[in-house]
Amino acid sequence: MKILVTGGAGFIGSNVVDAYIAAGHEVVVVDHAGCKTENVHPKAKLYLVDIRSAELEHVFAIERPDIVNHHAAQKSVPRSVEDPKLDADINILGLLNLLENSVRHDVQKVIFVSSGGALAGDAAVIPTPENIEPVMISPYAISKYVSEKYLYFYFVTHGIRYTSLRYANVYGPRQVPEGESGVIPIFMNNLLQRRESTLFAYPDMPKGTTRDYVYVEDVAHANVLALTGGDNQILNIGSGIELYIEDIYHQMEDVVDIHIPLKHASERVGDVRRSVLDCRLAREVLGWEPRVDLKEGLRRTYEYYQVHAF
Ligand SMILES: NC(=O)c1ccc[n+]([C@@H]2O[C@H](COP(=O)([O-])OP(=O)(O)OC[C@H]3O[C@@H](n4cnc5c(N)ncnc54)[C@H](O)[C@@H]3O)[C@@H](O)[C@H]2O)c1
Repeated sequence: MKILVTGGAGFIGSNVVDAYIAAGHEVVVVDHAGCKTENVHPKAKLYLVDIRSAELEHVFAIERPDIVNHHAAQKSVPRSVEDPKLDADINILGLLNLLENSVRHDVQKVIFVSSGGALAGDAAVIPTPENIEPVMISPYAISKYVSEKYLYFYFVTHGIRYTSLRYANVYGPRQVPEGESGVIPIFMNNLLQRRESTLFAYPDMPKGTTRDYVYVEDVAHANVLALTGGDNQILNIGSGIELYIEDIYHQMEDVVDIHIPLKHASERVGDVRRSVLDCRLAREVLGWEPRVDLKEGLRRTYEYYQVHAF
């Protein structure tokens, strides 16, 4: 199959590109100028094009992909709160540009990346399944949710099949320690630099909040399975395991064999207390299950960062 991957130079997208190429597919990457071209697999064809631009049409006309896999996004929750228009511009109008081109150029299916964590918020049901009424407290969550509604519209109106993969917290090689996106690269970078890390905790949850961490190679595998399965479904992709941030830190200390006590601070405004996804539907529909546990995933991530600087 020929697959167009947007955001294919980013952390998760580039790992998905590697998995598609390993599975024998032809891959075209669309990412914008200034992206990390070094992440892009040498066998993939790279177009430096913004997903919002009119130029995108040329890529579709030349390449005529069978499948679009959409990883490009404005992915920062705080940034979406500061600038909801920018978030909607990239995440909603960018998606619509892709979908319009998909209609014009006979794309069969769109694999979209949503966010289980952002949509579940502090959900009443834990682990949280796909069919909860989403609690959306950020424009980022709203844009991911609205995108899923557009996918449905393009399916019923134009027959383009879709799968929306709602990721938990993804970690692994090529993730960068920036913003709120990853406590794992932030902690690992601090440990390797022999610096103290801060644990933000509610007074009644001294070990910090809880999260569901899934290894990027497992996420990439879900994207491979979604090429042929999970049509017109929304599927959670996580470990299904709820872990305290402090426990993750201690596992990481053991893996890198550097031990530095955590500094404790009060919770940050809006921090979701507990977050873990119910991923049984992905197992049922795609036959997908995470294969790399946290210890092994941290070990592989550490191995990567011993060779590649942050
Ligand atoms: N990292 C996580 O834990 C997580 C969790 C849930 C969902 N997601 C989603 O997964 C996707 C990938 O996230 P990531 O963590 O790999 O982020 P990333 O920043 O590493 O990758 C995003 C890529 O998209 C590109 N991009 C951004 N705006 C673009 C535009 N207008 N035109 C073309 N390219 C553009 C960037 O250059 C980058 O290469 C996003 O949709 C994000 O919302 C990530």
